Amino acid sequence: MNQAEEIRAFPFPHRDGLDPMPEFAELRQNAPVIRVRLPSGDPAWLVTRHADVRRVLAEPCFSRARATRGEGPRINRTTTLPESILAADPPEHSRLRRLVAPALSGRRAEAMRGGIALLAGQLLDGMERRPRHADLVAHFTRPLPLTVICDLLGTPRLDGDQLDAWNDALRSVTALPDAEVIAAVDDMTGYLTDLVAAKRARPGDDMLSVLIAARDEGDRLSEGELISFCIVLLAGGYGTTADRLAGLVHLLLDRPERYELLCRDPELVPAAVEELLRYGQATVGANLRVATRDVVLGGVEIKEGEAVIPLTSSANHDEDVHPAPDLLDLTRAAPAHLAFGYGAHFCVGAQLARVQLQEALAALVVRLPTLRAAGPAQWKRGQITRAPRTLPVRW
Ligand code: HEM
Repeated sequence: MNQAEEIRAFPFPHRDGLDPMPEFAELRQNAPVIRVRLPSGDPAWLVTRHADVRRVLAEPCFSRARATRGEGPRINRTTTLPESILAADPPEHSRLRRLVAPALSGRRAEAMRGGIALLAGQLLDGMERRPRHADLVAHFTRPLPLTVICDLLGTPRLDGDQLDAWNDALRSVTALPDAEVIAAVDDMTGYLTDLVAAKRARPGDDMLSVLIAARDEGDRLSEGELISFCIVLLAGGYGTTADRLAGLVHLLLDRPERYELLCRDPELVPAAVEELLRYGQATVGANLRVATRDVVLGGVEIKEGEAVIPLTSSANHDEDVHPAPDLLDLTRAAPAHLAFGYGAHFCVGAQLARVQLQEALAALVVRLPTLRAAGPAQWKRGQITRAPRTLPVRW
């Protein structure tokens, strides 16, 4: 079949769970760079093999700025957060990244490990005071990263339900009409503007104060960039982390022998986190990139101005890189996955995310070895990522 003529609608139909999407495997095999139609009606190139995905994420000719600013192809017609760190290309991107990278370094994340372990223990204390069943999302996988991000930013304990509603809107591909997404981001912007004003009046030793100082003293950050930073930090630092943690626990409980293995040997947890991140196809879309010049990728010619979707969760199952990729092997040694991205926009919070995922799973397997699924999870739908909305458990 002539690839250029086959235009499939993307994203592909939703499937509950995080197991490999058969559509991705078929494309890696037969059409690794293929034209698809986005919900906006715009065409884009869907990229599914590891080597090609890495190129898109690493090479400067694939631009985030062109995918978020001015006219151009879009996933849908909603806010693209054009002033955020995720919308900037180097060298502008480097200025923004330098502002937050020190507070999220590996050393700082390790320094937070003890407090995060304590927090995980306290949340489990709370669960153990209840009847022996609960929704793990409400009682554990959401409150943990919510508390961590609030402490990091130096904000009061934010309203999780409200943040969830905004996060859902930010991640919506088809879940919400475009107008509702725009309204949600407007609401979030208003809320964060008030939060920034309160913090300005009472600065502290926290990340939000650092960003405000960069805005007010050095003029290294515009007001719009400051608010966009807060949105991305909340979306990644809270929303993505909460979603991934719930997804990881789901994968473990889905086959109790996986959970039991970690209960017998909790030292496997750090490696298991990496394998669970690799295996779980949470990301079923991607932040678009736009080609700034004609370029050949996977044998296909991409023209200047065309959109590209680097599908990291497909790359994480590329047979050329990972032997038996569809096998979830918790003892697999250091799988080099792309769950935190690659290149300039590689997740700046990856080390903090890892510490949270490791301490959360370690606390669960040590404290609740009898934990089991108590019914099917409910799944979020129509978003750029897949994640459980609820995880009914018993112990
Ligand atoms: C398991 C949890 C997490 C996952 C899977 C994750 C994943 C990612 C990915 C894939 C990207 C790159 C997106 C792209 O290239 O289009 C990214 C960027 C980012 N993440 Fe995370 N993230 C997580 C947790 C966090 C945390 C805890 C924070 C901060 C507290 C954070 C803050 C950010 C920021 C600020 C960026 C933009 C970086 C840049 O543009 O240079 N993330 N994340």
